[in-house]
Amino acid sequence: MNLPNMKEAQTRTTDKTNYIYLNNNADKAYAGKKYFIRTYGCQMNVHDSEEISARLENLGFSKVETIEEADIVILNTCAIRENAHDKLYGFLGRCKHEKENNNKDLIICICGCMPQEEKVANDLIKNHPYVDIVFGTHNIFELEDMLLNKMERQDIRVYSKEGEVYENIPYKRDSKFKAWVDIQYGCDKFCTYCIVPYTRGKQRSRKSEEIIKEVECLVKNGYKEVTLLGQNVNAYGKDINDLSFAELLLKVSDTGIDRVRFVTSHPWDFSDDMINAIASRDNIMPYIHLPLQSGSSRILKLMGRRYTKEEYITLFKKIKDTIKNVAVTTDIIVGFPNETEEDFNETLEVVNECKYDSAFTFIYSPREGTPAAKMQDDISLEVKEERLHKLNDLVNKYAKENNLKYEGKIVKVLLEDYSEKDKNLLMGYTDTMKLVNVKADPKYLGSIVDVKITSAKSWSLDGEIVEEK
Ligand code: 5AD
Ligand code: SF4
Repeated sequence: MNLPNMKEAQTRTTDKTNYIYLNNNADKAYAGKKYFIRTYGCQMNVHDSEEISARLENLGFSKVETIEEADIVILNTCAIRENAHDKLYGFLGRCKHEKENNNKDLIICICGCMPQEEKVANDLIKNHPYVDIVFGTHNIFELEDMLLNKMERQDIRVYSKEGEVYENIPYKRDSKFKAWVDIQYGCDKFCTYCIVPYTRGKQRSRKSEEIIKEVECLVKNGYKEVTLLGQNVNAYGKDINDLSFAELLLKVSDTGIDRVRFVTSHPWDFSDDMINAIASRDNIMPYIHLPLQSGSSRILKLMGRRYTKEEYITLFKKIKDTIKNVAVTTDIIVGFPNETEEDFNETLEVVNECKYDSAFTFIYSPREGTPAAKMQDDISLEVKEERLHKLNDLVNKYAKENNLKYEGKIVKVLLEDYSEKDKNLLMGYTDTMKLVNVKADPKYLGSIVDVKITSAKSWSLDGEIVEEK
């Protein structure tokens, strides 16, 4: 097979203006064909997959749930930690087997953050020639073109630099009730461990008027909830001299949408105006994801996080004191290079102080090309795993304690689907983002209803609808 080299692939030019909208020349070229899509990683990727789905359906594809039924398999990848790579390559092996043994015409496509890493893109070219199409996070708009002009050889399109911000992107949304709304792409924070600024590019905010237009359209179409998406939403607008995030939140709240959420916040740009905006509106949900990463000021400095342990706790308290019934969750990394027992104990101290509603915890994973990957590390994996277990025990304890406070209470839940654990139940989230499995008639799907909480577990609540008499 004639393989393109990376340079050729990366410099390949496409006139972007032709493809940002749905390609009008598609003419359902793939009518009757089926697509399977698997998404790894964060909400940005989940939302990108909604764009990919819209583009595939524009070509005539319809969605299936297994690779055996599919004519094209799309793997939308994540690069944040090494184990994301392992998961991808495991699944890719299954796709290869399917192509070699059952369906030689199966189109295998890899996209998302992993191909943005040169090492991965080169590996896909050299070692995985059965992969047909590879595209990066800045090239999704080219998917229809790649399929309409499908090449014999591997087609790789990875722009190393971010492009402009485009509007009117098509989405096939997974839910009829809640929607993701991008407000900004990329990240400028360059925390020393993090690959995101390299895979997603520098921060680019969308114009506030475009965001509001999108939310108004969602309200008109019956959506109950929007989640404003960005790697660091509090820095919204700073790159284009637009509204601040606090002002944007209030404008989105003014559209009359029932629920406004947002992820992710960085403690650094978290202003008093933001706290006051959240506290002032009933339709801005009292739920904040506030990544801590480490409780040691020494490690925070090495991570390039721009706040100390004390500053974080002060902010946390201000949030708790100002926003009624707010729930706060966090991200924590253990085993950053040379994290001492004292450093780790400081992380535990902050968890004891903040008593988070829940936390995502990770063992540090070196990412090639980031400053932290060059730091010498003398802590063994065994010690790191021990720390993770200890941290998880503490996190679980507080998660359960927080959830137990809900028992017997009546809370508002947006019923969004059938429950995964029991199809006779519905599921949804409280305003504080607690997952609730609810005994309720399916006619309430898509409604925000009162639910009495009957029992609490560490990671979810059980309840029953309180019907009006
Ligand atoms: N190793 C481990 N965890 C990481 N995260 C980001 N980069 C790394 C890394 N190299 C975690 C952070 C971030 C979350 C999305 O993933 O905690 O907040
Ligand atoms: Fe990564 Fe830091 Fe940006 Fe978050 S704020 S995406 S951790 S660089």
